[in-house]
Formats: sequence, structure tokens, C-alpha cells
Amino acid sequence: MTIAGLGEVSVLLTAEEIAGRVRELGAQLTREYAGRNPLFVSILKGGIVFLSDLIRSVTTPHEIDFLAVTSYGARTESSGRVRLLHDLSSEVRGRDVLLVEDIVDSGLTLRYLRDYLALRGPASLKVCALLQKPIEDLPAMEPDMIGFRIPNCFVVGYGMDLAGQFRNLPYIVALNETAGATGDGSRTSA
Ligand code: IMP
Ligand code: MG
Repeated sequence: MTIAGLGEVSVLLTAEEIAGRVRELGAQLTREYAGRNPLFVSILKGGIVFLSDLIRSVTTPHEIDFLAVTSYGARTESSGRVRLLHDLSSEVRGRDVLLVEDIVDSGLTLRYLRDYLALRGPASLKVCALLQKPIEDLPAMEPDMIGFRIPNCFVVGYGMDLAGQFRNLPYIVALNETAGATGDGSRTSA
């Protein structure tokens, strides 16, 4: 399909596929964190759509907070540096913390945030990412929970942007110029 401003794109994940998997992840979090009042930390801005759907599938008490980092700017490739733009408002010490990420690519952002939060003494620290690209650089940075494994392409929608735009798409598309494969058959849910 073609989207004005994005050109030819392939739908990697439909809204229904995303919703189904998010419900499964929410059910898993409900079981894992029951009675512990965990702190779910979303990474602005891309993580908010995933977080807002995810918490509506979690049926036990929890709190949310936000961190903002940047590494991409207006380009489709990581600059290789991570910068903290906005800090948490909650105390992390002694809390069960779950980082909720939209997508893990090189793992650099995740390594930065894990190190940053670990220094603050959480009782536990885990990561849930909706999407995982094949990690080549930092294999130790695999999230604890993954929604979908996707090929190495640039994706947009469901919170993820290109130069600040298209976060509102209810589905996830791959830009064709970057897609090594189409969605069908090349993704698996973990
Ligand atoms: P990493 O540090 O290389 O793992 O990149 C992680 C961050 O870069 C994610 O939290 C996203 O905000 C952004 N990102 C990585 N890949 C994509 C993509 O394909 N589309 C949109 N944003 C992406
Ligand atoms: Mg992000």
C-alpha cells in the first residue's frame, strides 16, 4: 500500500495482530507481578501507544512512569548515542520495575536505560519490548518479554515515528526501501 509521506509500505502487523499479542503480554504481566505493585516505565515518545494498550490488559495494581531518551533524531539510523531528555518522577529503590519499549534495534538504548535504572536500586528490573529486530551488536540486551520478532527494516506506526510523524497509525508498516523481506512469514512472536 501507499501512504502519503511514506511512499510504498508493507503492513508488517495489523491492528488485530497487535491487539491479540498485547492482550497475551498483559495477561502474563498480571500473573508475574500480582501483589507487587510494579512500576511500568514507558520510553517516550514511541512507547506510549504500547503502554496504554498494555496496561488495559493488566488487571492487578501497578503504577506507570515515563523516561524520555533520544538516539535517532530525524533519521532512520541510530546515531549511536543515547541522551536522557526527561527523568522519572517516581522513586525506583525497592520497586519491581518493568521497562516498556516499543522496539529494540541495536540494543544501545536498552543498555543505557538498564544501567541507568539499575543504579537506582530497584528490587527487580525487567524489559518488555513490543518489537525486536535481529540484535547483532549487543546480543546480551534481549528483552525479557518480546511481542514480535521482526526483520531488520525501518518500521512506523503504533507509536513509532519517522521524523516525528505517523505515530497514530493503528498498524505497523515497514518502509519498503529498508525492508529486507515482507511481513508475512518473516516474523514470529516470541
Ligand atoms: P536501539 O538503541 O538501536 O535499540 O534503538 C531503539 C530506539 O530507536 C527505539 O526505542 C525506537 O525509538 C527507535 N527505533 C529503532 N528502530 C526503529 C524503527 O524501525 N522505527 C522507528 N523507531 C525505531
Ligand atoms: Mg523508543
